[in-house]
Amino acid sequence: MATVPEATDQARLIRYSNVAVTLHWLTAALVVAQVVIGFTFHEMDRGPARTDMFMWHKTVGATILVVVLIRLAYRLMNPPPPYPEELPRWERFAAVWNHRAFYFLLIALPLTGLIAVSGGSDSSTTPLQLGLELPTIPGIGEDGGELSGEVHEILVFTTLALLVLHIGAAIKHVLIPNRASGRMPPFKAPTGKKSIED
Ligand code: HEM
Repeated sequence: MATVPEATDQARLIRYSNVAVTLHWLTAALVVAQVVIGFTFHEMDRGPARTDMFMWHKTVGATILVVVLIRLAYRLMNPPPPYPEELPRWERFAAVWNHRAFYFLLIALPLTGLIAVSGGSDSSTTPLQLGLELPTIPGIGEDGGELSGEVHEILVFTTLALLVLHIGAAIKHVLIPNRASGRMPPFKAPTGKKSIED
């Protein structure tokens, strides 16, 4: 027969694992850096400084793709802790779809960026920082590359809109704490918040 978990077990259930928390904040730092780098290089005049910044953009973008794929695989193998029962249904729905959209966007952004740089390219690779090279996708014409660049920009603004929702929800859970608070902030004991409301 199933037993009702103790309060401490509930608290432990509520917190994401330390691996998930680390991957979350690593992704957050990389995405913030990437958005700043993206808008910066986009505003720069053509020249060596822009090329250097664009190489950082491609390098950080490729890193995000790798981290997000690792994160997705980890998540599929380690399901996240269940939402507390008292969390309203609409908030769970919004959170689940926001998270799914982030996985989609953080995979689609690097891929559309890569298609954009592959368009009309006669090289099989594109240079990254640290002497690394990223393979380009063969067979993409200039038009296809330009279209992908436009899709890339639309995805950037979609991501920024979802980030506003995501951060807004996080701030709400800090200002009005409930058992969904404290699941993801860094540097907390794995047992989660002590101020559990039950
Ligand atoms: C999560 C990963 C990425 C994010 C968040 C991101 C973000 C951005 C941002 C903010 C811009 C400027 C958009 C604007 O000024 O309207 C941009 C432009 C661009 N990015 Fe990315 N990027 C990512 C990955 C990549 C990758 C991996 C590549 C290439 C391999 C790439 C190639 C480009 C190109 C070519 C542009 C210029 C697009 C155009 O003007 O048509 N991006 N990106």
